[in-house]
Amino acid sequence: MTKSQKFWNKFAARYAARPLKNVPAYEAMLADVAARLKPTDKVLEIGCGTGGTAIRLAPAVAQWTATDFSIEMVKIAQAKPAGDTVVFKVVDASNTFDGGPFDAICAFNVPHLVDDLPQVLHKSMPT
Ligand SMILES: C[S@@+](CC[C@H](N)C(=O)[O-])C[C@H]1O[C@@H](n2cnc3c(N)ncnc32)[C@H](O)[C@@H]1O
Repeated sequence: MTKSQKFWNKFAARYAARPLKNVPAYEAMLADVAARLKPTDKVLEIGCGTGGTAIRLAPAVAQWTATDFSIEMVKIAQAKPAGDTVVFKVVDASNTFDGGPFDAICAFNVPHLVDDLPQVLHKSMPT
């Protein structure tokens, strides 16, 4: 386990308990993303954290694969009630994602944490 995974595992419960800082901005972001997605889309989310955004957006698409490299984040996400279009998986963004290619890739508050983001996106999008 990397130092960064240890950090996020340790922080997961506290992260889950933090209230949203700006609810209207969050709702506007959800609406903006939803407007870009189609009901037939297969979506990959990188760094899903405790899964709240995935659970809100997944009902609008065919399949939402929400991934995070922190097992503690994913455990919290998996314990939440969710629709049947979302699945949570422990995956480091530096590895290959199963189930691709994806029609859309989302990463909320994460891109600055992922090494070589262009390469990560390239290998998961249709060729
Ligand atoms: C700031 S939190 C954002 C969580 C969620 N997207 C949100 O907006 O609430 C960053 C998340 O990215 C995950 N993360 C960081 N680096 C990652 C990587 N290389 N691969 C997968 N997940 C990563 C962390 O475990 C953490 O859950």
